Amino acid sequence: MTVMRLEELRQKYLEFFRQQKHAIIASASLIPEHDPTVLFTTAGMHPLVPHLLGQPHPKGKRLADCQKCIRTTDIDSVGDTSHLTFFEMLGNWSLGDYWKKEAITWSYQFLTSKKWLALDPKQLSVTVFAGDPDAPKDDESARIWLSLGVPAERVYFLPKGDNWWGPAGKTGPCGPCTEMFMEVSKIPKCGPDCKPGCSCGHFLEIWNDVFMQYNKMEDGTYEVLRQKNVDTGMGLERTVATLSGAQSVYDTEAFIPLMRRIKELSGKARVEKSNEKLMRIISDHVKAAVMIMADDRRISPSNVEHGYIVRRLLRKAIRCGDELGIPQGFLTDLADVVIGMYKDVYDEVQRNRDFVMLSLDAEERKFRGTLGKALKKFEQTIQETGTITGKDAFVLFTSFGLPLEMTAELASEKGIKIDIDEFRREFEQHRDISRTATEGKFKSGLADHTEEVTKLHTATHLLQAALRKVLGDSVRQNGSNITEERLRFDFTFSRKLTAEELQEVEDLVNDVIRRDLKVTREVMKLDQAMQKGALAFFKDTYGDEVSVYSVGDFSKEVCAGPHVEHTGVLKHFKITKQDSIGAGLMRIRAVLDEA
Ligand code: ALA
Repeated sequence: MTVMRLEELRQKYLEFFRQQKHAIIASASLIPEHDPTVLFTTAGMHPLVPHLLGQPHPKGKRLADCQKCIRTTDIDSVGDTSHLTFFEMLGNWSLGDYWKKEAITWSYQFLTSKKWLALDPKQLSVTVFAGDPDAPKDDESARIWLSLGVPAERVYFLPKGDNWWGPAGKTGPCGPCTEMFMEVSKIPKCGPDCKPGCSCGHFLEIWNDVFMQYNKMEDGTYEVLRQKNVDTGMGLERTVATLSGAQSVYDTEAFIPLMRRIKELSGKARVEKSNEKLMRIISDHVKAAVMIMADDRRISPSNVEHGYIVRRLLRKAIRCGDELGIPQGFLTDLADVVIGMYKDVYDEVQRNRDFVMLSLDAEERKFRGTLGKALKKFEQTIQETGTITGKDAFVLFTSFGLPLEMTAELASEKGIKIDIDEFRREFEQHRDISRTATEGKFKSGLADHTEEVTKLHTATHLLQAALRKVLGDSVRQNGSNITEERLRFDFTFSRKLTAEELQEVEDLVNDVIRRDLKVTREVMKLDQAMQKGALAFFKDTYGDEVSVYSVGDFSKEVCAGPHVEHTGVLKHFKITKQDSIGAGLMRIRAVLDEA
């Protein structure tokens, strides 16, 4: 077995699918633009949801990419052999084009052909959907695997829990999947019932082909979709580990430079088992935090939403670093290694380097300034009261910056369980953080393209155009987040708006709504869109061909959609709040109401 490099696998995969007439698209941002259900892009399909639901993609019906992903659902498993917070996912898609036969045949060819990965077909096992009252057994996929030469005893039929993808929300596109596993000869089967999906390490999952052929309806039934899609995902780091015969993802090029630097910094010549785990956590967490911060949305550590995740990752890394005796100031040292590893793959990592370094340095100083005090307060509280209540956890968080999860971890070492509900109640005035930290925002999911979200999305375009008309062209979108109830729009501007300016912006948007202007979509080259004056603030995330949405002659933006067809349906627009969120950055929240 030879060592496989990350870049080699990226290039081979994309080249294979280029030869099968797929357009190669750039990785989208780690921060989904218009999806209130999740904080981060969790899979390659996530940025493609509008196209999986039927909107034509400017690059065609066959796509492939290498997508940056963050999954916080697995955060507690980080440190084992395969779970990661940041990872890259290779994927190929058919948007109503090819179907099971082509997808499975190409997967098999790419894995086993001498020209590509040259894996021994004898080590390959696959799983297919076993069928249940909602949907039939996927005999078609099984037949295709058999026809390719995979013996029947290595085709496993598994239920929905294993072989079904989506929807993460209540409704939406979903379907059976077929997964590919390699057998690791060094790790024997754990027993006679050991099969793909077993966590003993004998079977390693490397690829998942999802066949999106159903739409789950409100009443829980599954309707057959008109546009059948293929969505596949291959974890880059895991696959490189498997192909290289490595013990874990940390023993591959994805982590060796980081682990080496952590060992040097800690001066630990001999790595004991417990230290190994701490080093893995530090390398995973620093890498994930740096990749989130280096995204063009430039997330800094904070107490809300994405920034809270960054803070939680970094503070955990600092605590693990302290346990290993690593001297202060190591975050920037390790960030330098991360940036070196990814700057040639994702341009933004180099572009945002200075921002990342400054923010990391500030965060480490800030946390160290209060960490000692926080731990003292923690011990003191236990001594005085014998426990840590939800309210204590809240005080530790707001006054000393100790993330809830860290308090919960310290408490559990002493056999104390924190009352999360009580913690949450304390947060009633702090809704954003309570949602992020204690509700379901860590789960992966499909975008929520409900009618309300779509309307608010169009309203966001109108708001941006109105702000530029009232305040000038220095206004640039910096981020946006939409839930069913409200829109939130961040933009560059150096001061709060006056009451008159706010009124003027509102009036402009309401005037467009009253005039019931038509919303149109055109596909063109990015430079042509720019020449026509379309706004496009995250250029690196678009392909050469882009969708441009226009609202009459009021607004023109490069955007993936979806949008309403006429502005009249928005009824009435109202700004509910404005905040200054940092040097030169403002945030507006607004709603659509009936008034
Ligand atoms: N969306 C599928 C996954 O992430 C391919 O596994």
